[in-house]
Amino acid sequence: LPWRFLQFLLLLLLGVSSAAQAQVNITLGSSLTPQGPNSSWLSPSGDFAFGFQPVEGNTSSYLLAVWFDKIPEKTVAWYAKSSQDTPVQVPSSSVLRLTADGLLSLRTPSDGEVWSPRVPGAAYARMLDTGDFRLFGADGKAKWETFDVPADTILPTQVLLVGQQDKVLRSRLIATDYANGRFLLAVQSDGNLVFYPIAEPTTKRYDAYWASNTVGNGSRLVFNETGRIYFTTTNGTQVNITSAGGVSMGDFFNRATLDPDGVFRQYLYPKSRKARSVWSLQWTVVSSIPQNICQAIKETNAGSGACGFNSYCSFDGTQNQTTVCQCPEHYEFFDKERKYKGCRPDFEPQSCYLDEAAAVAKFEMTPINGVDWPLADYEEYSPIDENECRTLCVIDCFCATAVFRASTNTCWKKKLPLSNGNMAADVDRTVLIKVPRSNNSESQLSSGSTKWKEDKKYWILGSSLFFGGSVLVNILLGNFHLQ
Ligand SMILES: *[C@@H]1O[C@H](CO)[C@@H](O)[C@H](O)[C@H]1NC(C)=O
Ligand SMILES: *[C@@H]1O[C@H](CO)[C@@H](O)[C@H](O)[C@H]1NC(C)=O
Ligand SMILES: *[C@@H]1O[C@H](CO)[C@@H](O)[C@H](O)[C@H]1NC(C)=O
Ligand SMILES: *[C@@H]1O[C@H](CO)[C@@H](O)[C@H](O)[C@H]1NC(C)=O
Ligand SMILES: *[C@@H]1O[C@H](CO)[C@@H](O)[C@H](O)[C@H]1NC(C)=O
Ligand SMILES: *[C@@H]1O[C@H](CO)[C@@H](O)[C@H](O)[C@H]1NC(C)=O
Ligand SMILES: *[C@@H]1O[C@H](CO)[C@@H](O)[C@H](O)[C@H]1NC(C)=O
Ligand SMILES: *[C@@H]1O[C@H](CO)[C@@H](O)[C@H](O)[C@H]1NC(C)=O
Ligand SMILES: *[C@@H]1O[C@H](CO)[C@@H](O)[C@H](O)[C@H]1NC(C)=O
Repeated sequence: LPWRFLQFLLLLLLGVSSAAQAQVNITLGSSLTPQGPNSSWLSPSGDFAFGFQPVEGNTSSYLLAVWFDKIPEKTVAWYAKSSQDTPVQVPSSSVLRLTADGLLSLRTPSDGEVWSPRVPGAAYARMLDTGDFRLFGADGKAKWETFDVPADTILPTQVLLVGQQDKVLRSRLIATDYANGRFLLAVQSDGNLVFYPIAEPTTKRYDAYWASNTVGNGSRLVFNETGRIYFTTTNGTQVNITSAGGVSMGDFFNRATLDPDGVFRQYLYPKSRKARSVWSLQWTVVSSIPQNICQAIKETNAGSGACGFNSYCSFDGTQNQTTVCQCPEHYEFFDKERKYKGCRPDFEPQSCYLDEAAAVAKFEMTPINGVDWPLADYEEYSPIDENECRTLCVIDCFCATAVFRASTNTCWKKKLPLSNGNMAADVDRTVLIKVPRSNNSESQLSSGSTKWKEDKKYWILGSSLFFGGSVLVNILLGNFHLQ
């Protein structure tokens, strides 16, 4: 009871302080610049800001964005995209103006207008406490809002209606690069809600990795203020998208983002004093879909799968819900920050002019445990034994890996690039990868294991964005329910 009373007092205080800051209309003629005092417009509560946000790692480039302004991370919830659907990044000399004739327009000295919603006749604008930035007509009706043109994130109270055109969320390339990434979520005009891998840099959609299967019946994607995210059908049925619920908007900041790894994750950040006393001050994953991205994107018509070509994917669903991409032994990432680019061999590829004896002297097959590339087969032998299988791959300059299944005495040869690599525990199968023969097998073993440790260090760095602890979180959510 005393706790309830304190909570009541706290709510009263919060209510008073937010009432003191009257909702401000952004009037015609107002402007923002990336530097200086007027670089953003705040919502009445101060929770959200609209304006210029510096791009990480580039002090001379800014996004036009909406972000969570009360947390140190300043997490971006929306960013402006050009008519070519690429994020707008502008220099510090740019100006965003709500012009006297009611047009919102972003200009740079060199290129003139680089972005505008092109909706004329606004009377004023507002940054709302929900995170929605709106242009209003003189009649007080919204003429344009950021909630209608999402980037990679949706917020509580945001609704995406099935309409004439697909409404999409597009993942970023990596956490710090807002360029269009490899995954897309579409609220399709046919009533289906679908997740696709994308053939960057085009807009080609590969086979879906999740769908609501509501063609003809889908109606709206809703991020309810209670924290639930669901897709409704015309007959009123709700298809749950995430499993959170009972989250108070007063206690938590809440967002759902199509992350660069293709997983749609719902995150909470403690907001009220009560929540901050129990939760650590960071975004915590409370729900995600699909459950295991590596399994979900397993067999596509083309493309590399969840990770890049020649790499393999594993998903830590129990703790931090992170997607981990790794290179096999004797392969290395093209770019450790951008693992989606895949892995390349760290050795000279096998010349197709080598004779068989030279090939056997230079290369050998080494087993790689618990990993499978289900595609890229180009030859199948049966019956055969494992040694023959190894040799047939070693002497074939096209062959990169071989798979041997003992129970059926079958051997498959696979070529580069390997795709849809996955951690898979199939006891009946030996996956063999072609590597340069070393004179001393001991030295090869030890160099292999240090390389693996290096890889592991990099993925921890790369994936530290996606921390979680869903089990703990669910328990705590339960707590909040009960009080
Ligand atoms: C904002 O503008 C609308 C429409 O002109 C008006 O009704 C409202 O009172 C204004 N609010 C403030 C706080 O000025
Ligand atoms: C910032 O905006 C306020 C309110 O619109 C205005 O009074 C002030 O002059 C602006 N400051 C600068 C440096 O533009
Ligand atoms: C920073 O951004 C500017 C403008 O967008 C761009 O021209 C420049 O190449 C970027 N610099 C780096 C280091 O990415
Ligand atoms: C759409 O809804 C109708 C009526 O409820 C139902 O008969 C039909 O099977 C539904 N279609 C799908 C694809 O679920
Ligand atoms: C959220 O759920 C409540 C209760 O089910 C409902 O009344 C409300 O309209 C929903 N919010 C949105 C944005 O659909
Ligand atoms: C409503 O539509 C969904 C999806 O199409 C279907 O599975 C369900 O059976 C329908 N329910 C009713 C009551 O018609
Ligand atoms: C959807 O989620 C709500 C709230 O978490 C739950 O009550 C309901 O049973 C779920 N529906 C399905 C079909 O799982
Ligand atoms: C989960 O993330 C935390 C913090 O980022 C880290 O300390 C921990 O090692 C991670 N756990 C696993 C199993 O990766
Ligand atoms: C293995 O030994 C041969 C002959 O001694 C030598 O030419 C070759 O460079 C060695 N290879 C490696 C990987 O050390």
